[in-house]
Amino acid sequence: MISFKKLHNYVGAEVSPIQLKNVFDQVILDQLVSGMDTHGVLVFRNQIMSDEEQMAFCERFGGPLHTKPGVAALGKNKFNNNAIADISNVDENGQIRAVDDRRRMYSLANRLWHTDASFQSPAGRYSTLCAKVIPKVGANTEFADMAAAYDALDHNTKNMIAGLHVHHSIAYSRQLLGFSFSEEELNELKGAVHPLVRVNPRTQQKSLYLASHANKIIEMPIPEGRLLLRDLTEHATQPQFVYSHQWQDHDFVIWDNLATMHRATAFDDAKTPRELRRVTTLESTPSHA
Ligand SMILES: [Fe+2]
Repeated sequence: MISFKKLHNYVGAEVSPIQLKNVFDQVILDQLVSGMDTHGVLVFRNQIMSDEEQMAFCERFGGPLHTKPGVAALGKNKFNNNAIADISNVDENGQIRAVDDRRRMYSLANRLWHTDASFQSPAGRYSTLCAKVIPKVGANTEFADMAAAYDALDHNTKNMIAGLHVHHSIAYSRQLLGFSFSEEELNELKGAVHPLVRVNPRTQQKSLYLASHANKIIEMPIPEGRLLLRDLTEHATQPQFVYSHQWQDHDFVIWDNLATMHRATAFDDAKTPRELRRVTTLESTPSHA
């Protein structure tokens, strides 16, 4: 029987010892999905697995896989497989990327609060991050509980945001930091529209669905919508809603992108290698925008 030890008042739990690459039993997989519904983020220690084993686990857990990340607009990644997101500062020759490397600059936007793959439909559902090389200092990943943040809204705000829809674009989150795209790249990055409030189909729990990719609210003038998105993001990322994960070698973390938002934090990335692999599953159906 699996057990969960809470890591934070609202979000995050560490799962009792288990090797995920060996989990094929549907009963255990269902327990893990239930754990995701309750905790939003699950932490597994000492997971030694290959990229292929990570992808296979994700397909058992909640496939299909997300294979068209925004970064694909910059060309194939170093694994020649866009189902594996290269969350690292190391290039295909094992060298730390230069500070002006285009992929590094693009990846810096992961330090803005976001959900994975909200810029497409179906959107990203569960993300998994497998730690390979972890710096001694810094580089935590922070998770905000968007269900607790929704529940804490006052009644009037809940009524006001019900029925609103948001256009998400990965080009927008990169442009916020001054990253520029060619016309050809922008043509690949049209984005997608999703409800501002998402509902977990298993539990009916409502969550705010926010991200730095959130470009505009469809039903509002752009400036008014962006102000509302900022206000909601400030509310949702208050310290009481945030768990900060301090990585250990071979940690494996799963989070629900419909119920959480996350961001990377700074470390000395010009000198210190950091390598993780991310595989993300997609929602089973497109959201009803
Ligand atoms: Fe992310």
